[in-house]
Amino acid sequence: MATNTDMDNIYATRRARFAASIGTDGIAIIPTSPERPRNRDSDFLYRFDSYFHYLTGFTEPNATLVMTGDGQSILFCAPKDMEREIWDGFRLGPTAAPQALGVDAAFSSAELDALLPKLLENKSAVYYPFAMHSGLETRVDGWLAKVRARVRYGALCPETQRDACAVLDEMRLIKDATEQATMRRAAQISAAGHIRAMQKSAQMLRDGKDVREYHLDAELLHEFRQQGSQYSAYSAIVAAGANACVLHYRADVAPVKSGDLVLIDAGCELDGYASDITRTFPANGKFTGPQRALYDIVLASQEAAVAVTKPGSRFIDPHEAAVKVLAQGMLDVGLLDKNKVGSLQDVIEKRAYFSFYMHRTGHWLGMDVHDCGSYNELSEVGNATQRTDPLSNEVITSRPSRILRPGMVLTIEPGIYVRPAAGVPEQFHNIGIRIEDDAIVNEGGCELISRGVPVKADEIEALMKS
Ligand code: GLY
Ligand code: MN
Ligand code: MN
Repeated sequence: MATNTDMDNIYATRRARFAASIGTDGIAIIPTSPERPRNRDSDFLYRFDSYFHYLTGFTEPNATLVMTGDGQSILFCAPKDMEREIWDGFRLGPTAAPQALGVDAAFSSAELDALLPKLLENKSAVYYPFAMHSGLETRVDGWLAKVRARVRYGALCPETQRDACAVLDEMRLIKDATEQATMRRAAQISAAGHIRAMQKSAQMLRDGKDVREYHLDAELLHEFRQQGSQYSAYSAIVAAGANACVLHYRADVAPVKSGDLVLIDAGCELDGYASDITRTFPANGKFTGPQRALYDIVLASQEAAVAVTKPGSRFIDPHEAAVKVLAQGMLDVGLLDKNKVGSLQDVIEKRAYFSFYMHRTGHWLGMDVHDCGSYNELSEVGNATQRTDPLSNEVITSRPSRILRPGMVLTIEPGIYVRPAAGVPEQFHNIGIRIEDDAIVNEGGCELISRGVPVKADEIEALMKS
């Protein structure tokens, strides 16, 4: 278990690495997220900015970290204010911040506009997250204008503006041991939530109850909060029957009926880190023949993707491995008609599988559910190639996909979604299946951290009996 001192060291170490990469005469400005009004004087539940939290561990709103390339870190934060603290809760305040967070100095956020021009003076480059904080560019312009007003007194004004995300994205892409431990725990909690929802579905149906999607959503949330997660990492998808074919469906009021499948895509956030798990299960605990046939194809495609999730593979390799198995499965069960679409190779080249599998097989996972980090191998970014997409006829420029390295974390989430259409065997209509697990790339391959919830059809059926 990490102690407070370990955690302080983690943030100080990250700040030192970041400072080293912005150059000794660089300066960086990293704000946290603002509070966002929901209506009148009620705000949405607050979530800090991931970059800011990555460098400070500080969870309060109304704060900005300023870092200079010589390693100095200055925090601007909400000042102590007894009346506001009575209403909104404890504030750390600038006096206590250096000791609590290991920053070199701290001031009230109210002083940001007055102090920033002075801090920017004689620096050559200013870094901040581009296109992330509404109005930040204008504020930077204002601070730079104040520095310019002093050039006749000998001040130098920064000549370069750079995107702080470029440096921080590369750092965040490789998860250190503490991050991996938090992500393992987040995935375990989410897995327990999925188990709870599966069992609740079968139990309520056995008891003859009217089961709704929101009943299962409630089970997920119960487990997340019960085990100390702060909130869901994203809005849970709890999709019964045909709703599973709507990729961004949300848990709603639809009935969960015996004989239908339920697709649940849900994950908790724990201490700033997301988990992202999908399971598809029979509402009553027993797959029908057609459901099982498609389920086993999706699972086999996931296994093929997992097998190539290892150092040295490209990010795109798990997707391509999954597509091969999915496309073959679609031909085997008659979702695709060989006489119309041709061979496996034709199906892949012409993307004929796309009507049943229209998304990518994964994404980076970390502080954000769709985490930061380039999907291109940065050392090969100049090797662009062009091709014409067979479905849209669009000319697409692609660059070599990222090479996987230990410490990268990604999801592996193939699926099949069958909307009723002419020529599509009726037994498969309205079946939507996705299986999603979270993988940490390690020296030998990858560790699936979300397998606390069963994934094999037989194991799901056994679990739902109990
Ligand atoms: N839950 C969003 C995703 O699977 O990417
Ligand atoms: Mn998901
Ligand atoms: Mn995902």
